[in-house]
Amino acid sequence: MSKDNPNGSGNENGADGELKFEIGETIAGFKLVNKIDEGGFGQVFKVTKDDKTFYAMKIENSAMEGGSAIKLEINVLTQLNHESVFPKFIIGGRRARYQYIVLELLGDNLRMLKARSIHPDCWSDGTWSRLAIQCLYALKKMHDNGFVHRDIKPNNFAVGMDSDGQNRSRVVLLFDFGLARKFINHKTEDKNKEAASSKPEKSPGDSLFSKNNNTKQSKLVKKKGTKLDKKAGGNGFANKKRGSIMTKGESTRTAEDKEKESARALNDKFKFRIARPHTDFRGTFQYASANAHEQLELGRADDIWSLMYMVVEMFTELPWANQDTFPVEDLKNQATLLRLFTDSKNPNRLTAKMNEQLEAIEKMLKGCNYYSFPNYEIIHQFFKDVMTKSKVSWNSPFDWEKTGNVEEFSKDQRNKKPVKVPQWEAPGDYFKQDPWSTLKRPNYSPSTTSQHPIPNRSKKGQIREKTVLSKEDPSQAEDAISLKKIPSDVQAPTNVLRNSREKPPNA
Ligand SMILES: Nc1ncnc2c1ncn2[C@@H]1O[C@H](COP(=O)(O)OP(=O)(O)OP(=O)(O)O)[C@@H](O)[C@H]1O
Ligand SMILES: [Mg+2]
Repeated sequence: MSKDNPNGSGNENGADGELKFEIGETIAGFKLVNKIDEGGFGQVFKVTKDDKTFYAMKIENSAMEGGSAIKLEINVLTQLNHESVFPKFIIGGRRARYQYIVLELLGDNLRMLKARSIHPDCWSDGTWSRLAIQCLYALKKMHDNGFVHRDIKPNNFAVGMDSDGQNRSRVVLLFDFGLARKFINHKTEDKNKEAASSKPEKSPGDSLFSKNNNTKQSKLVKKKGTKLDKKAGGNGFANKKRGSIMTKGESTRTAEDKEKESARALNDKFKFRIARPHTDFRGTFQYASANAHEQLELGRADDIWSLMYMVVEMFTELPWANQDTFPVEDLKNQATLLRLFTDSKNPNRLTAKMNEQLEAIEKMLKGCNYYSFPNYEIIHQFFKDVMTKSKVSWNSPFDWEKTGNVEEFSKDQRNKKPVKVPQWEAPGDYFKQDPWSTLKRPNYSPSTTSQHPIPNRSKKGQIREKTVLSKEDPSQAEDAISLKKIPSDVQAPTNVLRNSREKPPNA
């Protein structure tokens, strides 16, 4: 029989304080089935309650350097839970030595999928172009909800699992929100924060585990319920508000009046978080944008730079991989997107039009600052053109599916319950829409000098695979998380769970 130690087992193993969990032991009622992966910070297990339905549980040591980011992840995920391109949040909490989050179980991450493809060094154009479109779609969903991810890389995208007869094993989901940051703030959140900060601090003994657990949970549900209401049926917060203020005297108002009113309503509720002049380094060296190396505040365009580097790596090596002679940031500054996507082994990959597209994307991204809405549309068009040139359809097998007989694959696909056409297949105007377009942008004045050294970096500019996180960044303190404030069990509101997969992707 499995054992559940309410104080958390997580026996310390060795002098470094690494936590060791036994397969078969139970945490928060979930039995550990096997270890899926070990990330930069935590261990991820496949878990189950009933041996029928399986989930993923990520566990992080509370005592790790920089602190665990699990509460931040819970915070972000509960706000994104209505979207189908992020794993469903099930429950999260903490024990004496560690914090955990239970999520929808996903399939392999992109790095694993590549490793088990027919040519593990190089995905075909038909495969990487389709993956790139899906990754761009998931990333825009995150941005449209007011968050930047700040750690875009292949390990943080995975395909889903086939469940309920739904074929989600060909759908790419984005996860790992431990470094995410809001770039849009809800004005009431700021007011609440002010109010909260004027209240006396709780003493450390005032844990939420026991007495106040119910109160906290209901607060979370209420807060989430409100947010869901605001978002229902719309693309982010803004649209629903637009709808709700257009009731009186609608017929007499011009379209311009309506636009002005909806812009006013948006600005009454939300505002851009001001870019800080300096930040600590956030992300992973291999994929970080030049701004991340400069330690500037990261915006949507920075996630897209990381995405572009990640896509290049799907078919070739990045020039800064496996070298420690030159600083990574210097190589990034020298490399143009056109050069990165040009592959001597496959000189016919890019057409003249695609070369121009890459130059336009580079120019567009270089012109973006923290507040800018990047032109996702031209990036999508480039990937779409690669897809068309490689003569694949969305039903064609991906490279990791090609090991079997292609005929059989098509039959297998046909036999699966048909899914509604996902939105990245027919995105319409989706990539053009900016839900924050009418929000006032503060003036942007980037700093040119970095005050904080990048932690743990070799003098040679060595590439670091592991994500860098430090709790000294005020944004982390602000976004998150007094670790003491994590309730022992935070459950997703049932309406969130029910609705999260039912809603069609927003147009
Ligand atoms: N819901 C999930 N289902 C299946 N596998 C998962 C899930 N979440 C995470 N994993 C696996 O565990 C790995 C590490 O998870 P995650 O990225 O969340 O942790 P991390 O410690 O923040 O990692 P890193 O710092 O290396 O990015 C992922 O790359 C993925 O392979
Ligand atoms: Mg990760």
